[in-house]
Amino acid sequence: MIGTLKSLFSKLAYWVNDTFPNAKSLVPKPLHRFVLLRIVGMNDQYERMLRENPERLFLQNDALPWVSTSYKQVLFVGTAVYTYQYEKLFADDPDRYTTIDRNPSTKVWGGKHHIVAPIEQINQHRPPGFFDCIVLSGVLAYRIPEHGDYGLVEQDDLRALLKVLHGVLRPGGLLLVGWNLRDMAQSLSQLGLLDPYFAPTDKTPWGTRKEFPGDPHVFEFYERR
Ligand SMILES: C[S@@+](CC[C@H](N)C(=O)[O-])C[C@H]1O[C@@H](n2cnc3c(N)ncnc32)[C@H](O)[C@@H]1O
Repeated sequence: MIGTLKSLFSKLAYWVNDTFPNAKSLVPKPLHRFVLLRIVGMNDQYERMLRENPERLFLQNDALPWVSTSYKQVLFVGTAVYTYQYEKLFADDPDRYTTIDRNPSTKVWGGKHHIVAPIEQINQHRPPGFFDCIVLSGVLAYRIPEHGDYGLVEQDDLRALLKVLHGVLRPGGLLLVGWNLRDMAQSLSQLGLLDPYFAPTDKTPWGTRKEFPGDPHVFEFYERR
C-alpha cells in the first residue's frame, strides 16, 4: 500500500517536473529535498555507497570534518543527492560554506550559497583570495556515459582550472582533489601541472596523499603558493 502510494507520488513528481520545469524553483528547498529523498527515493541507489565505499566514508567522516574545523571559507565543487548532508558540518556559520555545480538540476543539493556555473568560472562569482579551502572531489576525469556527463581531463583545461582556483584561494589555502585512478591514472602533481600555482602539502592528518587499498579512489592535498 505504502509502496503503491510512493510510486504514485513519484510519478506525479516527475510529471510536475516535466510539465512545469520552472515550478521547482518556487518550491522551498526543504520541501523539494523531502520529495526527492522520501518520495522519489533518489538516494536509495547510493545507500550502499554511502555506507561502504572507503573513499566516501573518508570524505564524509574524516576529510570534510577536518576541513570544516581547519578552514573558514570552504568551496565544495559538484553537488549531488549524496552530498547535501555536508552542509551540516558548517552549521555553526552557513556563510562559511559555498557550493558550485554547472548542472542547474543539482542546485537543490547545494548549500545556502550555491552557484550554478562551471568551476572554471568561479572567478566571475567570488573575489581573489576569497576561499581558504577548495574541495574538488569527483569532478576531474569522471565518466557517466548514460548521462553524457564527463569531468575535465585535457591537460590544457586542467592547467587553466588550476590557474582560476589559485586566483580565488588565499595564499597558503588548501586544494583537496579526489578522483578515480581508472579515469585519470596520474595526479595533477604527477602530470606536472601544479607549477607555479600549487605545491603538494603534508600539512594534513594524511600527508600529501590518501589511498585506499583495493579501491581505485585517491585524494591529494595541495597548498596554494
Ligand atoms: C560525480 S559527481 C561528484 C559529486 C561530489 N563532488 C562528490 O565528490 O561526491 C560530479 C558532479 O560535478 C559536477 N561537475 C562536473 N564538472 C563540473 C565543472 N567543471 N564545474 C562544475 N560542476 C561540475 C557535475 O554536474 C556533477 O553534479
